[in-house]
Amino acid sequence: MRLLSGLNGPRGPRRPSGPLGLLALAVCAALLVPVSAAGAGQRARAADPTAYDRIVPAPAHTAPGGPGYRLDARTVIRTTAGSAAARGVGELLARALRPATGLALRVSGTDAGGSAADGIRLRLDARAADQGEEGYRLRADGTGVVITAYRPAGLFRGAQTLRQLVPVTGRPVVAGGTVADAPRFPYRGAMIDIARHFFTVEQVKRYLDRLALYKVNVLHLHLTDDQGWRLAVDSWPRLAEHGGGTEVGGGPGGYWTKAQYRDLVRYAGERYVEVVPEIDMPGHVNAALASYAELNCDGVAPARYTGTKVGFSSLCVAKERTYEFVADVLREVAELTPGRYLHIGGDEAYATPHADYATFMGRAQQAVVAQGKTVLAWHQLAGAGPVSGTALQYWGLDRTPAAEKAKVAGAVRAGAKVVLSPADRAYLDMKYDAATRPGLSWAGYVPVRRAYEWDPGAYLAGVEEAAVLGVEAALWTETVATTADADLMAFPRALGIAELGWSPASALSWDAYRLRLAAQGPRLTALGVGYYRAPEVPWA
Ligand code: ACM
Repeated sequence: MRLLSGLNGPRGPRRPSGPLGLLALAVCAALLVPVSAAGAGQRARAADPTAYDRIVPAPAHTAPGGPGYRLDARTVIRTTAGSAAARGVGELLARALRPATGLALRVSGTDAGGSAADGIRLRLDARAADQGEEGYRLRADGTGVVITAYRPAGLFRGAQTLRQLVPVTGRPVVAGGTVADAPRFPYRGAMIDIARHFFTVEQVKRYLDRLALYKVNVLHLHLTDDQGWRLAVDSWPRLAEHGGGTEVGGGPGGYWTKAQYRDLVRYAGERYVEVVPEIDMPGHVNAALASYAELNCDGVAPARYTGTKVGFSSLCVAKERTYEFVADVLREVAELTPGRYLHIGGDEAYATPHADYATFMGRAQQAVVAQGKTVLAWHQLAGAGPVSGTALQYWGLDRTPAAEKAKVAGAVRAGAKVVLSPADRAYLDMKYDAATRPGLSWAGYVPVRRAYEWDPGAYLAGVEEAAVLGVEAALWTETVATTADADLMAFPRALGIAELGWSPASALSWDAYRLRLAAQGPRLTALGVGYYRAPEVPWA
């Protein structure tokens, strides 16, 4: 059943927004329920017209209405024949639905056979190219649920919508209705700093798994900093073995082996999440300098560092050995990483004179290009010659001087793209308010509403929406030491950033979002997430 016309590509017509649009949808749904339910047999259930208004991120189009589908022990998840990827999405969906439903749903790797009314179908449709890499359609009625997509990534995104349509408790009924959905931006990222405090692969998998429910598709790993080097590098083994051996506050730190890193990349890939590794240079390198005396201009290795100051360390720009180090590290990281980007940092290089910085970043960018990868760097690279095709990650504030923002706009005119992580919106380590523990406040307090209420397509003067790859929520960990700390700071603000990256501009409304977000509270609790119960959200 269709109450609205479908999506004409990712930037097609939007669902009605605002109170009148929602009212119209609710009225249509109420009128249609009795008609449809009459012919829908035992499984018919009245639609819950609000379920489709509780999805985060808000889909491009929703049309609630008609009888719902009740999952039971006979329900089968059928996936397109011959597609291991579709089957993999089905397996993850079955696992995700188990806690809420108590059902161990069977997955069948063919969508032929079965009856018309036997459950959930995940269908790849080679003719649905208009849905793009991540778009999907979902239809739920009395006979079952069908998700159709052009690509497996679209099936996975659609499966996350379906998860949110299944109540956390009570009868497992998917409300009747349709969704036609695709993202506004291709890059919807989350960064975690495992350098200031070490986090294990298991901890990061858990974080990623929670974010994937909200259609995040990039995991940026801040792998190196003054306080620790967290990834094994075969050609420079002391980086991890010595440089990984502490963290902020003097704890034992740690590092990931290559096998562990590959395991995380695989786990992310199953969720259609691209891993972006960051090796921060030429500043933020004390852990590397402490590991190899030869990387220092004076040939003397400093002690390891466990404080939280920034901007005091620099690679030795004049030494050729520095560039051998850079090439070796980036080659090994590139070999481990199937994704497009290598992030080379470039922020807060206050101990590197500007001319040296430009020299160094020029050569570091060439080392990335030599690996067949695309450069991603913090936006300070804008003033030092980004190579064509580079993506700049903006981390300024609303109050950042116009001249600095204009440098980013200038780089965009020369061909750069932008990922937006404004620190006073998207930095998850900023305190919500004065009472928040842990957290910092150099960018100000960032309440949930402030994190949400900005438009990435119109954020930087002179940077058109077409130059914006997307958004990224960044979890720095100077003060964030445990999973409980990370949960409190990231949730719920990361959901708001995820919605800014996915939902059409016309759907962005704080008044509607706070209700959608409130409905996620029990869902987050069921997933074991100790989120912050922000006072401006009417939590269930
Ligand atoms: C940064 O916050 N130094 C990128």
